[in-house]
Amino acid sequence: MSTYSIITYGCQMNEHDSENIAGMLEALGYIHEEDPWASNLVVMNTCSVRENADKRFFGVLGQFKKIKKSNPDFVLCVCGCMPQQPRIVEEINKRFSWVDIVFGTQNIAQLPELLENLHKTGKKQRAIIDNNPRIAEEEMKPVRMHNHKALVNITYGCNNFCTYCIVPYTRGREKSRMLSEVVCEIERLASDGVREVMLLGQNVDSYKDAIGNSFAELIKAVNEIEGIERIRFMTSHPKDISDEMIECFRTCDKLCRNIYLPVQSGSDRVLKRMNRHYDRARYLEIVDKLRAVCPEITISTDIIVGFPGETESDFEETLDIARRVRYDSAFTFIYSPREGTPAAKFEDQVDDVICHERFDRLVELMDGISLEKNKEYMGKVLEVMVDGLSKTSPNTYSGRTDGFKLVNFTSDKSEEEIAGQIVKVKITETKTFSLEGMEI
Ligand code: SAH
Ligand code: SF4
Ligand code: F3S
Repeated sequence: MSTYSIITYGCQMNEHDSENIAGMLEALGYIHEEDPWASNLVVMNTCSVRENADKRFFGVLGQFKKIKKSNPDFVLCVCGCMPQQPRIVEEINKRFSWVDIVFGTQNIAQLPELLENLHKTGKKQRAIIDNNPRIAEEEMKPVRMHNHKALVNITYGCNNFCTYCIVPYTRGREKSRMLSEVVCEIERLASDGVREVMLLGQNVDSYKDAIGNSFAELIKAVNEIEGIERIRFMTSHPKDISDEMIECFRTCDKLCRNIYLPVQSGSDRVLKRMNRHYDRARYLEIVDKLRAVCPEITISTDIIVGFPGETESDFEETLDIARRVRYDSAFTFIYSPREGTPAAKFEDQVDDVICHERFDRLVELMDGISLEKNKEYMGKVLEVMVDGLSKTSPNTYSGRTDGFKLVNFTSDKSEEEIAGQIVKVKITETKTFSLEGMEI
């Protein structure tokens, strides 16, 4: 019996691709093995959004070389966003030519064929073709990470070309799936026991299908699907978010009261050079509208520090917008130049020491705000959808509130009984990144 293991880096798109890859491998008879070092076949699903992702990838690849040497039957596949860059494929072919299969983000459906060719001919397989017809989702049988919640692609690719970002080059042009197709998939998921769906797109707000359905119309349609209790989505782009979509937080009862709205910077000058197509005034106006429609909404964001040309006063505007919005949570990144993107060629790159110093100041501010926000939940009873046993503390379960707060809590129930259920939890302790409590 052959076993497989998948190592997934990067975003939810990659996670979902990995679920589909797992489905294809299991259809071929492979059996899942948790430990990649003990598997017959390993798939590395890679990310290249920042430079440290590159470094980590080549590090791990080097380690697999030893396994390949001692066991020639071991098969290593590399896919995801790294091989979408020609320089990476060149490097694999030069320094890691023993890698058996390399395939691109738009060639996932070819994996069974590539494996067959490899076994038949013994030749290394490479398939990186842009604008290949995407996998037909309805033919996919993903092996999902959770039974009760599912990731659902609504758009592929990205057309926004933010000047720092590699994604438009690794994922190709934006395409929206048909509303009817997405609804069909979610109906099937619901009949399979799924209660929460996460609608995925690099910019969900630019969703428009071939007959003109908008993202708001898609949410309304999903809201009607029986069995689905929670709807989430990511990521929103401030330039495309519509009033009609914001209104859904009032009208769609299943839509979770949480939004992931990356701001990237609080400085208009920087936002312009990032090619983000909104300014801080517009961003703050969106936040006001969201809170007017849904006062309890929680807001998460992404922020980049040290974008080329960012001055101390630009950075202070980022601190200022963070204080004004008071984010529930934030992912903060130090700008990382990506070869092939416009910003990598900007001449005013910010010194590393300054980047780190700003990063530390930003993290301190954001963590303080997150903690203060979480303190507001002390003593309250929240509805939590249970993911399962907590990964960090023994004898506790973890789950998410409607507002996407992570809650670790104790309960007398067994895991089989509680996983996927919505339970009431009384909050007894508040931390920066989580709430603690007990089921009541
Ligand atoms: N489509 C999403 C984000 C995808 S990438 C959106 O538009 O919001 C996830 C996050 O990585 C981005 O929001 C950004 O904050 C960060 N990021 C992307 N490229 C980066 C780079 N070159 N350096 C540092 N952070 C980057
Ligand atoms: Fe990257 Fe911008 Fe597209 Fe997001 S919207 S994936 S940050 S180019
Ligand atoms: Fe990374 Fe590709 Fe996602 S670069 S963040 S895995 S789209």
